[in-house]
Amino acid sequence: MGLLAEKRVLLGITGGIAAYKAAELTRLLRASEAQVRVVMTRAATAFVAPLTFQALSGHPVHLDLLDATEESAMGHIALARWADLILIAPASADFMAKLRAGLADDLLSALCLAAETPIALAPAMNRAMWANPATCDNVRCLKSRGFRVFGPAEGEQACGESGVGRLLEPSDILRSAETLFALGGLTGHSVLISAGPTREAIDPVRYIGNRSSGKMGYALARSALAAGARVTLVSGPVSLQAPQGVKLVRVESAAQMYEAVVGLASSHDIYIGAAAVADYSPAKRAERKIKKRDEAISIELTRTRDILAAVAQLSNPPFTVGFAAETDHLEDYAKAKLADKKLDMVAANRVGKPEGGFDSEDNALHVFWRDGEGYLPMAPKSLIATQLIELITEHYAAKNSAQNPG
Ligand code: CTP
Repeated sequence: MGLLAEKRVLLGITGGIAAYKAAELTRLLRASEAQVRVVMTRAATAFVAPLTFQALSGHPVHLDLLDATEESAMGHIALARWADLILIAPASADFMAKLRAGLADDLLSALCLAAETPIALAPAMNRAMWANPATCDNVRCLKSRGFRVFGPAEGEQACGESGVGRLLEPSDILRSAETLFALGGLTGHSVLISAGPTREAIDPVRYIGNRSSGKMGYALARSALAAGARVTLVSGPVSLQAPQGVKLVRVESAAQMYEAVVGLASSHDIYIGAAAVADYSPAKRAERKIKKRDEAISIELTRTRDILAAVAQLSNPPFTVGFAAETDHLEDYAKAKLADKKLDMVAANRVGKPEGGFDSEDNALHVFWRDGEGYLPMAPKSLIATQLIELITEHYAAKNSAQNPG
């Protein structure tokens, strides 16, 4: 049984050319054995007839807030209570603005306002509408209130332009929705995660650091906990609160992180190297603060030891997952890291773009394992973390059953 089996999904469809893709999404939800009820806005019915969704969901489509017959059959409060998940795909810019403002002048917005269940939005709109500060502000605000946002994707748009704003493919929306129900897969297992930057001391007051915020590693710790794992987090200096229930080991330098992680790795089932470990460290740390005298100075740097490779080379290594932050040739470099460091999985993200990566709230990952790959489209790091933990759980279980058949 899939993660959506018997789950009650209320699919909200708002007005936009991408509304036709909601038909395929309805079919996929039903194929995943979810129970589906569809609510359409007036504008959505201008793009696709409600009858399509009635046929695909197996139930009449809900359209009006004030329709007496509908209210008696299942009013907006009852519909909101019925759902395990409210999924709005496509979510138009206009509808997200309404959600942010708390308007309730049609059935879908009223039931969202009354909802106590998670609401996920799959936005679709023209790239300039998506990039408009008003939309950005609305999306940021909705995310901070706990709304999940799936996508949007980048590419050709119905209007002939190209950019970020396309509705995610229905199969990607389905996958994102599944992860919201993915809990418990790591019960009885232990996960070691490294997170944040390292600081390499130059003298007692200065160091070489990097811009890692630790958000991805901390989000992974939270998701691994939610999946039932016992979690140890080895963290460089960050300004984040460790999730409740995590065993936190604070370190500063790459050398300290090496000692902590390699010392703990054999007693864990899974290691995820999400830290941005310095590759080079000053060869000598000045005992006293370096005074400015010379016009130029140079600091000799030596390579740090590779923690990830050391973990993967242990005699009884955990399932080992590395990260790769690349500006170019992402696939080639990520695959090379997988092979060279003998990893089980590598999660690669593109850096140097305005969205995603270091210090950002969102991320997208291209994940590689020995005989396959997967793509987690741009989403809040919390959601990306849940999806990555899901993937890791799946491949960790497959590796275990291959090693211990029967
Ligand atoms: N890593 C590590 N120990 C180091 C350096 C990196 O464990 N001393 C881990 C990171 O936690 C991350 C992965 O290795 O999981 C990143 O791979 P790496 O080869 O270091 O990537 P880059 O630093 O980008 O280096 P390169 O110049 O090879 O791309």
